[in-house]
Amino acid sequence: MEVPPPEELKQPLVVPYKLLMGPGPSNPPPRVMNALTHPILGHMHEEMFQIMDDIKKGIQYVFQTKSKLTLALSASGHSGMEAIFSNLIEPGDRVLVLVNGYWGQRASDIAKRHGAQVKTLVQIGDTFSIITIDNAIQTFRPKLLFIIHGETSTGVCQPLEGIGEITKRYNCLLAVDTVASLAAVPFKMDAWKIDVAYTGSQKMLQAPAGITPIAFSDRAQHVIFTRKSEVPVYYVDMKILGRQWGCFDSSRTYHHTTCSSLLYALREALALAVEEGLENRIEKQKFCAQKLYEGLQNLGFEFYVEEEYKRLPSVTTVKVPQGINSNEVVAYVMKKFHIDIQGGLGPTAGKVFRIGIMGYNTTPEKVAIVLEALKDALHNCRKSKF
Ligand code: GLV
Repeated sequence: MEVPPPEELKQPLVVPYKLLMGPGPSNPPPRVMNALTHPILGHMHEEMFQIMDDIKKGIQYVFQTKSKLTLALSASGHSGMEAIFSNLIEPGDRVLVLVNGYWGQRASDIAKRHGAQVKTLVQIGDTFSIITIDNAIQTFRPKLLFIIHGETSTGVCQPLEGIGEITKRYNCLLAVDTVASLAAVPFKMDAWKIDVAYTGSQKMLQAPAGITPIAFSDRAQHVIFTRKSEVPVYYVDMKILGRQWGCFDSSRTYHHTTCSSLLYALREALALAVEEGLENRIEKQKFCAQKLYEGLQNLGFEFYVEEEYKRLPSVTTVKVPQGINSNEVVAYVMKKFHIDIQGGLGPTAGKVFRIGIMGYNTTPEKVAIVLEALKDALHNCRKSKF
């Protein structure tokens, strides 16, 4: 053999436990981890279809939608963005993106790659008012408005209520990324007239990454079915994917081989959301975020998002104190406590710490653990300078 068997793969797999308190992924609960060990099923087996139907119902519940075109993409949260622009945009269409951090920047990049004329409204680390949005839609007349509900790079949560009324008035589609916000703050896809929403499995939903819930309104479905050109990316073509997921009144047809283990995990994660109830989960999130805010203030941190009502309760951003190197603190917390917190991303790189409280880790005990670790890290990383 010219390429010999690698020595590394003769060693056992070793995976340490880490407490994931960054912007995601988070640690799934035991019931979800156990679900990953069920026997593998074929993607076109009866039992798999039942599991997919259960998942659809669970996604409809967490999004608060009756959308028929609801399914989970076999890819990370990023695929939600690709699916939106691939299915709803054709070259030359106008897209308006609200950018309050890294993820909005990425959305505008993807929209451009699909040939859209893109306009951005930029307020890094801040929210947009209804008036600003209304004016921009009135003058630019986009086919689609794209919003990040919870920006993990800056820790901002964009209010959504009232925007759907505006987009409807101008025949504009409303697309929302809820990757980091769903089940942390209220979200009502149908009541808020949202045309397409997707979320991350690995954050508040408490499942592993790699499977992305997404739903399209009737209006969005009409746009997909009346496009002039084919959806350019086969992998996210909703007309074909929707048939595998039994979303239309037609028999199921093959699109791709789904990962049954991830679907079991997502099914159980959604079952946990149903059992706990969204309202309870959101209350718990608020309570734990409040505990974290108090603790961070006691440690002398300043918030990157000053007004509390603008903060995303699942990811808190605090300014890196003078004389402290954020990478050093992040590495210290990992090395000594095996806890994952993160520094900034994109426009906040080097400027903030990002502390996540998500899903199974949304408890006052986990908040206390991360605060203790930060206190120790600040003390030691400051000391090491002198
Ligand atoms: C992931 O969502 C991140 O913000 O790092």
